[in-house]
Amino acid sequence: MRVITHFGLWLVGLEQAQTQTSAGERACLAKHAAGKRRLVEIGVWHGVTTRVLRSVMDPSATLYAVDPFPVGRLGFSFQYLISHREVGVVRNGQVSWVRLTGAEAARRHREHGIPPVDFIFIDGDHSYEGLQADWTGWNPLVAPGGVVALHDSRDTPANPRPGAGSVRYTSEVILKDPAFEVNDEYESLTVLRRRTP
Ligand SMILES: C[S@@+](CC[C@H](N)C(=O)[O-])C[C@H]1O[C@@H](n2cnc3c(N)ncnc32)[C@H](O)[C@@H]1O
Repeated sequence: MRVITHFGLWLVGLEQAQTQTSAGERACLAKHAAGKRRLVEIGVWHGVTTRVLRSVMDPSATLYAVDPFPVGRLGFSFQYLISHREVGVVRNGQVSWVRLTGAEAARRHREHGIPPVDFIFIDGDHSYEGLQADWTGWNPLVAPGGVVALHDSRDTPANPRPGAGSVRYTSEVILKDPAFEVNDEYESLTVLRRRTP
């Protein structure tokens, strides 16, 4: 459906915010994000998964919602408007909106001296180079015991992604990183945990 048509229908309550995640994947994310205190989501779109993370995190938590929200032909981002309204419905903790790419947001996190995070959901640029930029920027910023969830990181019979860059980068690089262990897998999601020293 065209972006403007969807936006109009969403405004009057005839369409819902969109997501590429399944209900089962969202339940898996909720399980691993529950009670976390410093969370990051890379790739917000309409805020469907951002809203899930906000609803289960600790009441004292901050969730960094990272997305460049590129503007369309009309000079603004419908996704920006939809996500802010959707995520604002949940009253829990704080959401810090970071209108940057994942790699830029990692640099900002370091420059601002923000402590390591205990949960990150990477669901932005799914090309090989895109996931590489997010992983190299953010994996050093994950605290011991912290969780990294990767969307579109597995090829499953129900949802094959042959040759997808994010699937290749996950299997060729991330799964071989000795600092992390696989904690869970569900459909296209891989959930890792940083080992404690
Ligand atoms: C698959 S959608 C995210 C969906 C959302 N997590 C959900 O399921 O509710 C991908 C989003 O990533 C954003 N994006 C694209 N490249 C990015 C990058 N390099 N860093 C951060 N976000 C990016 C896009 O603007 C888009 O909104």
